[in-house]
Amino acid sequence: MAERQEVSAQRAPGREAGDGQAPGARILFVGDLVGSVGRRTLLECLPILRERHDPTFVVVNGENVAGGLGITPKAARALFAGGVDAITLGNHAYHRREIYPYLDSEPRILRPANFLRIQPGHGTCVVERDGVRLGVVNLSGNLYLRAGRSAFTEIEAALGELGDEVDHILVDMHAEATSEKVALGWMLDGRVTAVVGTHTHIPTADGRVLPGGTAYITDVGMTGPRGGVIGVKREQAIESLVTQMPVRFETSEEDPWLMGVLIRCSATTPRSAVAIEQVLMPRPAPAPRSAPPSSG
Ligand SMILES: [Fe+2]
Ligand SMILES: [Fe+2]
Repeated sequence: MAERQEVSAQRAPGREAGDGQAPGARILFVGDLVGSVGRRTLLECLPILRERHDPTFVVVNGENVAGGLGITPKAARALFAGGVDAITLGNHAYHRREIYPYLDSEPRILRPANFLRIQPGHGTCVVERDGVRLGVVNLSGNLYLRAGRSAFTEIEAALGELGDEVDHILVDMHAEATSEKVALGWMLDGRVTAVVGTHTHIPTADGRVLPGGTAYITDVGMTGPRGGVIGVKREQAIESLVTQMPVRFETSEEDPWLMGVLIRCSATTPRSAVAIEQVLMPRPAPAPRSAPPSSG
């Protein structure tokens, strides 16, 4: 039987989740999709998660979906066709050249807002569903990652772009350093609905609603093979570390899981959350084939 783990919701003290009479919006945010196995895992898990959590919005980080590095227009279209509302990216945003024009023309796909203005794409968007307007912001950390401008100053411009017209705001802080993510969470507490971290591909255990009402987690993890090393076939990753020689990396397909968070937005306070819950689930097992008819 497949392992299953769901971490119980971390609620803000004194705050109540929607009671079914006036439920707030729910945002399912899913961490870095790794390779086609990550895309398939998402699309196969989504019907189950829709039934279980009825998310208003589905937002995914897609920076690794094209063979482990970058994203193509075809892969992005497949995600939108599968019910994804917005796609965020990160340090691998420009790995595939064919995505550049698409980043300019498709409003719902974001590269970090603190990349240079001359680089293709944009870092904010607004999506609307069931009368709720969600602003999405993608940022890149500045430690150990290449981003032309500071996440901590450009977030102000991004929030200014979104203005007062959005009901909720989700920020994907794609960063290596936990310190940058924690600092951004505190800095935006009370100003946005959620700050979620991506990039390390490993989920952290610190999901909670901060005192000002912002749902926060340092990293949601990846949607891809747990049997590899942050997405790469483990024997190749180990060989590279042991020999310190160049090794060609391929995406592992072993033991794929979806990793994300479900954010319950406040029904009464704009840009505020009442709970954040980790969503960690294995790719559903294929339905068993029916037995062949008996010959006698
Ligand atoms: Fe990344
Ligand atoms: Fe990634």
